[in-house]
Amino acid sequence: MKRTLVTIGASYAGVQLAASARELGFDGSILLLGDEPDAPYQRPPLSKGFLTGSVAAERLPLRAQAFFDEERIQWMPSTRAVAIDRERRQVELHDGTRVDYDHLALTTGARVRKLDCPGATLAAVHYLRDLRDARRLADTARSARRAVVIGGGYIGLEAAASLRQKGVDVSVVETEQRLLARVASPWVSDFILQAHREHGVRFEFGRKVVRLRDTHDMHDMVSVELEDGTCLLCDLVVVGIGVIPNTELAADCGLKVAGGIAVDTCARTSDPSIVAAGDCASFVPHWAPEGAPACRIESVQNANDMARKAASTLVGRAEPYRALPWFWSDQYDLKLQMAGVNAGFTGFAVRGRVEERKFSLFYFRDDMLIAVDSINRPQDHMLARKLLANRVRISAQQAGDPAFDLKVLANRSEAVAPRTA
Ligand code: NAI
Repeated sequence: MKRTLVTIGASYAGVQLAASARELGFDGSILLLGDEPDAPYQRPPLSKGFLTGSVAAERLPLRAQAFFDEERIQWMPSTRAVAIDRERRQVELHDGTRVDYDHLALTTGARVRKLDCPGATLAAVHYLRDLRDARRLADTARSARRAVVIGGGYIGLEAAASLRQKGVDVSVVETEQRLLARVASPWVSDFILQAHREHGVRFEFGRKVVRLRDTHDMHDMVSVELEDGTCLLCDLVVVGIGVIPNTELAADCGLKVAGGIAVDTCARTSDPSIVAAGDCASFVPHWAPEGAPACRIESVQNANDMARKAASTLVGRAEPYRALPWFWSDQYDLKLQMAGVNAGFTGFAVRGRVEERKFSLFYFRDDMLIAVDSINRPQDHMLARKLLANRVRISAQQAGDPAFDLKVLANRSEAVAPRTA
């Protein structure tokens, strides 16, 4: 008898999970439920090329329709799952219909955290998570003159860079004392800050927005009021203050949720017939120190790699998820690429030339390499991924020595190490 795999969520993790299930020989029906009207699309360009206008909407789809047809993956747009009946193995949809499943995958992603001060719902306020948000923002940005960006994380900074490239005046308000505090070392935060300042972006650190107000008397500008009384006038507000995982479906059907949908190393939820992957899933990563709590990893890499493992689990070939995390961000002419996680680093070495904006930081915890951030050094990044994945020993002195051949070391490690992805 043919079996049915239902995947709830049709972004990176959902699409990859469906594709991997097929690759691994799953021959039943695959239903990919997505609550958005658009075909699954790439998100990274939304805050970059799509906003500046250099990437057209036609270039966004993750896969061509022919892929879904050939792989017999039934992608259902504008279809929201509203409940899971684990006893009957059914998913209830927004229109009341029920879909049977044998295997269920939750790739529900995350949604933006909303600003909750007075005035937060003014028309000038924009978020940037999905294509609808991006279209609305790109439209407004065409005529905007002054923007206030709330949040100095990935979204805020990429949006700030894109808006500056369009000639919009930009101020960024960040509650922490530095940029990208969640993911970057203070050194990288400072470097990125200088780059934005050179492009004319202004910053307000360590302060919160307490109110947004329409100033009808001043050409429909909005006043963004900070807790110390500062008022920033603008005609566009972009909010990027983090995301909240979509865990409600899982929680409502009794699955364990702890900061995300709790999964084991093979992406199984507390019901072993249901897997979860991507931004919505929380787990203890293999690279975390002993006793570390579960966490979520918000990245395209994690969505894709975890979805592959979740598909293996579904087809009865469970393998632990051990991929190396990596991230990237493009701002102006800077390509920031991060491999590994630098939390708890005790020292670092610089490779390359900071003054030329082409360098990498190699982070060590004691004498173990744990992460590498590269600015405009894509080859370092690729080599660092090999070094980190294969846990190669390298000293800070070697990492910082331009004459030391990283490539030889990385390729040698690749030849002898077992695959860890
Ligand atoms: P984020 O967590 O990266 O940054 C949010 C920032 O907002 C933090 O710096 C935080 O301190 C600050 N913040 C929080 N509350 C605030 C408040 N009330 N006022 C001012 N600042 C406040 O989240 P972000 O930038 O919203 O990105 C959302 C998601 O999109 C993340 O999952 C991120 O990984 C993903 N993303 C990834 C990109 C990449 O990898 N290049 C690019 C864009 C988005």
